Amino acid sequence: MDFLPFTRPSIDEATIASVAEVLRSGWITTGPKCREFEEALSARYGGRPVRLVVSATAALEFALRLAGVGPGDEVVTTPLSWVATANVVLAVGARPVFVDVDARTRLIDLDRIEAAIGPRTRAIIAVDLAGLPVDRNRLYAIARARGLRVIEDAAQSMGAAWNGREIGCDGDLVAFSFHANKNITTAEGGCLVMNTAEEARLFEKLRLQGVTRHADGGMDVDLLGYKDNLTDVAAAIGLGQLPHLETFNRRRAELAARYLARIDPALGLDLPSPDGTTGAARGNWHMFQPLLPLARLTITRGEFIAAMRARGIGVGVHYPAMHRFTLFRDLGWRDGDFPVAESIGERTVTLPLFPAMRDSDVDRVCAALIEVLAPALRETAA
Ligand SMILES: Cc1ncc(COP(=O)(O)O)c(C=O)c1O
Repeated sequence: MDFLPFTRPSIDEATIASVAEVLRSGWITTGPKCREFEEALSARYGGRPVRLVVSATAALEFALRLAGVGPGDEVVTTPLSWVATANVVLAVGARPVFVDVDARTRLIDLDRIEAAIGPRTRAIIAVDLAGLPVDRNRLYAIARARGLRVIEDAAQSMGAAWNGREIGCDGDLVAFSFHANKNITTAEGGCLVMNTAEEARLFEKLRLQGVTRHADGGMDVDLLGYKDNLTDVAAAIGLGQLPHLETFNRRRAELAARYLARIDPALGLDLPSPDGTTGAARGNWHMFQPLLPLARLTITRGEFIAAMRARGIGVGVHYPAMHRFTLFRDLGWRDGDFPVAESIGERTVTLPLFPAMRDSDVDRVCAALIEVLAPALRETAA
């Protein structure tokens, strides 16, 4: 039987042809395709300025720079995310201050944010883990009351919505990722949705060596920039992907609904919050992540993953709680600081979910879950 990976991009022949066209055109780095993709994204987000970069990591780091976050500042965020979320805080010389997550949504616990805000706090980075949006009403109410900037790490939540408004249309600075695993891709890439033309100009300088070009052909450099501009090859992929976002996300939602309906409840898996439970949140099902009932199992997560792989099914881990990584331990964070995130990080597994999957693939995963987990369940709950 074919190996079923946990994710796989869907790239159509028209997109492949458009990439070939760029390669033949003589202009393969940043150029007309990047501008066209930026315009398409800007149109999607109500005319807000959008600029492309090589990764959401770069977009997030530049967002912190636009927000004026630097040495001595603190940024409140979740420990349950890809480590990029906190690495960018360190990259600008600031300190990440973690806040535990809500057990149901697995997103930053908004009830605990206030206690983490101090005199040095400048910003909150909110992460829409697995494409489920953080409560934007409460997030922005807190930020406004405390005079903080908000950076939305929407790396995983393209096409998701809050209160019927697509993520990116509202809010402060919003970063999306086009990494190969995301709901649409440019292979590697990302973008930032901004508020003003002035922010967009600063972003353009940051992504390309700090250069400002003058109309007469001259140039100046007045700040230290990076080399993070996207290529037209990548932008052509993005232009081919964008029109499919709704269809892809609809298919993801169907597959997730099938998992939710068909995973055997007797296995004791803690299933992800179903779409729209809060009423206002509409996720994009970027990932489908049950939590293993480890206390009741005679096997480890590693053994579970190996047993699924032996049945031709790829399973990922997204993510261990990042305050437990050496880099963050060295800043003083310890085991036990964020028990909810730690427990989710230890138990989470990412099952296959991507638009080209068939219903029968979901059924195959559900059958494998029974084969692997049922014999490993202890008689009584520990
Ligand atoms: C929540 C989150 N933030 C940031 C990133 C960084 O995105 P990129 O890989 O495009 O730099 C990712 C990518 O996996 C992510 O999942």
